[in-house]
Amino acid sequence: MKTLAEPLLRLEKVTAGYGDAVVLNGVSLDIVEHGSLAVLGRNGVGKSTLMLTIMGFTQMRAGSVFWRGRDISRQPPHWRARNGIGWVAQEREIFPSLSVEENLTVAATAGEWTLEAIYTMFPRLAERKRNMGNQLSGGEQQMLAIARALRTNPSLLLLDEPFEGLAPVIVEELIGAVSKMLAGRKLAIVLVEQHTDVALELTADALVLERGAVMHRAASTALQQDTETLERYVGLRVAAD
Ligand SMILES: Nc1ncnc2c1ncn2[C@@H]1O[C@H](COP(=O)(O)OP(=O)(O)O)[C@@H](O)[C@H]1O
Ligand SMILES: [Mg+2]
Repeated sequence: MKTLAEPLLRLEKVTAGYGDAVVLNGVSLDIVEHGSLAVLGRNGVGKSTLMLTIMGFTQMRAGSVFWRGRDISRQPPHWRARNGIGWVAQEREIFPSLSVEENLTVAATAGEWTLEAIYTMFPRLAERKRNMGNQLSGGEQQMLAIARALRTNPSLLLLDEPFEGLAPVIVEELIGAVSKMLAGRKLAIVLVEQHTDVALELTADALVLERGAVMHRAASTALQQDTETLERYVGLRVAAD
């Protein structure tokens, strides 16, 4: 018998939501070490709720979350953060009254993502290191939010619509950074993204959520060709136009 390695993260039939409101309905997924997964779907289908559930911020009604084979369903968010799950919220929270460098120091742990490594990945942050968080552009704030998550040296990084509402030049820089992280096999990434073409280009695997359930699962290259599925569940947003 072949022994399959445990995935890094596994969700098994997870039903979760907020208080009485159930948002996710029996969601299963897994992601391997250094893997990449795009989570697609229209507004309001539960993509952010999925990220929040992986972090432990929602109420689980059924199912389990496994991390490196261990059931962490009852572990609080800070335990998950300390044990290698990094999360960049859709609201890209940074500390506005701390400098860039201070933002990059407060939550840091020892590991390969030193300040130097961060500044190599994001030269723009090096230039702005003495600026306060609230003096940054939206794009710089997003870089800082990602960089801050990296400083915790996560094995898995959850990115919730990281390119939303940013200038194209910044989006290009961020895409470059994400693809470098993946190419360097530094971590696994779950990427929630409305820009389907970008998300599928960056990732190996994809799933499509619809009303809190997984409607479709495929290799990202296969989904790129599957315009019918994309039109039905995501709304076609491709770079061609
Ligand atoms: N804090 C919350 N309390 C109650 N319902 C919420 C909360 N956050 C989101 N929802 C609901 O959960 C559903 C999914 O939202 P969300 O996960 O943000 O979707 P997406 O990220 O795909 O746009 C929506 O119906 C939304 O109104
Ligand atoms: Mg969202």
